[in-house]
Amino acid sequence: MQHCIAYFSPAGSTRRVAERVQHVLQNQKIQPQVFDLSRQGQEATHKTLATLTCSADEPCLLWVGSPVYCDHALPPLMEQLASLPAHLQGYSVPFVTWGGVCSGLALPEMAALLVQKNLPPLAAAKVLAEHSSTWDAPEPWAAGRPHEEDLVLVDRLVAEVLQQVQTGTVHPLDLHRLEYLSSTQRADAALKSLPKAKTAVGTPRADEALCTQCGECEQVCPTGAMGLQPWPLVQPELCILCQQCVRHCPEQAFPHDGAQAVQRCANMAAASDEGKVTAVFY
Ligand SMILES: Cc1cc2nc3c(=O)[nH]c(=O)nc-3n(C[C@H](O)[C@H](O)[C@H](O)COP(=O)(O)O)c2cc1C
Repeated sequence: MQHCIAYFSPAGSTRRVAERVQHVLQNQKIQPQVFDLSRQGQEATHKTLATLTCSADEPCLLWVGSPVYCDHALPPLMEQLASLPAHLQGYSVPFVTWGGVCSGLALPEMAALLVQKNLPPLAAAKVLAEHSSTWDAPEPWAAGRPHEEDLVLVDRLVAEVLQQVQTGTVHPLDLHRLEYLSSTQRADAALKSLPKAKTAVGTPRADEALCTQCGECEQVCPTGAMGLQPWPLVQPELCILCQQCVRHCPEQAFPHDGAQAVQRCANMAAASDEGKVTAVFY
């Protein structure tokens, strides 16, 4: 069984979970292939999942992580999964990090796509993480998460999956387990999307009087949406509203109000009765 870990992580929480998975695998002398799908402005290091190969002779176990954005997995991650070759053989473990508002349909949608790709999930996880829109608030939403207890649950999940594959007694996950939201909440989540949020709030725009065109925003943008030539260039179709440009701008040229973002999170979280916890499914 060859292990692959693929993730998209604009602000780093999903990467932390992926690194924990990698650490547990390495403790078991397993060297996974790692795909960091966040482009980080450096084309040369960008690997795509289209290069993933596995067969009946050497099936793969794909650990795949996404943040929850607007109640769904990140579109660029889903596009990568959709572009996986058709003839794969193996299993998967989808995981998401979510900011304690609502994890929406991200896990069931990832799981359904993985089944289509002949990689049925053996397990899944939703890991509570600091809300990446609230970094500059006095108290960010879900501050400090994931903490060690969240990550210990990830360790257990990896141990359970390894036990299954090493003893040859694999039990694909019953996907009904991922329908943990009420039907009303699932219907609400289905109405939300990143494109709709972009229409509502617009993409980030630097104040021309403050911007020095240093290029930091271009470097930290995980999708290649930011560019300096011609300046100021945000390609709205590529922008995922991750706000890495806003967060890392040395001139604070992009307006942002963390306290207001926390208030929005609080309002939306109150409308969802989902427990604000990390949960694993197997
Ligand atoms: C544009 C945007 C939309 C988000 N939507 C949700 C959401 O619908 N529900 C939620 O619980 N958290 C939401 N979050 C918070 C992220 O899911 C959470 O912070 C995640 O851990 C970020 O992962 P990363 O650190 O790997 O980028 C959103 C964050 C951003 C920037």
